[in-house]
Amino acid sequence: MTSTVSGMQTVHRIAELRPLVRDWRRSGARIALVPTMGALHEGHLHLVDAARAAADVVVMSIFVNPLQFGPSEDFERYPRDLEGDLRKAETRGVDAVFAPPAEEMYAHARTVIVAPVALADRWEGASRPGHFAGVLTVVAKLFNIVQPDVAVFGQKDIQQAALIRAMVRDLDIPLTVLIEPTVRDTDGLALSSRNRYLSPEERRQAQLLPRALHEMADAYAGGEVRALALVERGRAILATAPLVRVEYLAAVDPDRLEPVTFVEEGTILAVAARVGATRLIDNVIVGAS
Ligand code: PAJ
Repeated sequence: MTSTVSGMQTVHRIAELRPLVRDWRRSGARIALVPTMGALHEGHLHLVDAARAAADVVVMSIFVNPLQFGPSEDFERYPRDLEGDLRKAETRGVDAVFAPPAEEMYAHARTVIVAPVALADRWEGASRPGHFAGVLTVVAKLFNIVQPDVAVFGQKDIQQAALIRAMVRDLDIPLTVLIEPTVRDTDGLALSSRNRYLSPEERRQAQLLPRALHEMADAYAGGEVRALALVERGRAILATAPLVRVEYLAAVDPDRLEPVTFVEEGTILAVAARVGATRLIDNVIVGAS
């Protein structure tokens, strides 16, 4: 996409965004929202393309949400580059960026949060207590502020996507959730804002994450359907990388993310690992590629 759209609006305050939303809605425009924490890469920008195809107005939010970071996580050093992000968003055809300061989003002491009652304590939730309550709370706020018809998320964060789908369903939020495939670098590594923390050697070993997932998918295509056998195969590949410490490697069903005994089309193969000090996640959907 090469369209250079001039006049992208950047707003920092909820009260500034409300009249824009009102005008868009009054004119009958369909609104798509792409929530991000900035440090934009091609994965985020692919979500913009999908949003563009699904709606008339594309709003991107850029907000490093303190509520979803644990006390020992990387909130302080999470990469921030608003100027660069605004340039990328504008070049890609975003109509409006909503980039609030933290005190705008969390102006009051919290009385209410949106917290999942299932699916929150395993996988990502197991090592990041409270993380998904932080994600759902901020996403619910963004939905209420932007009032989108469509909201676009990445498959890379598959548990987040499943929980947002569940929130929209369980709370009857009137919008459609789109989940877009993971954008990868030429070496197969899923694009992530955290990849920049990797040393060259860590990056080399991190490539084994997608390789292990794809070998597992290939073994399934070759006739192995036992989840345990496939996971063992993936673990054997990751065990060859001394800097990779696996947190989980699992075959799970796409709705509840429960481990399956037998893999079938649609089963998700998911991994989380520390590579050096950096925590990375990835997944593939069996039969999808
Ligand atoms: P962030 O990590 O910035 O990701 C924003 C969106 O981009 C998410 O939907 C994520 O799944 C998607 N994404 C990240 N890497 C991707 C890739 N390689 N290919 C395709 N999509 C990719 O996820 C968050 O922010 C936050 O939790 C948020 C939803 C904004 C709430 O604070």
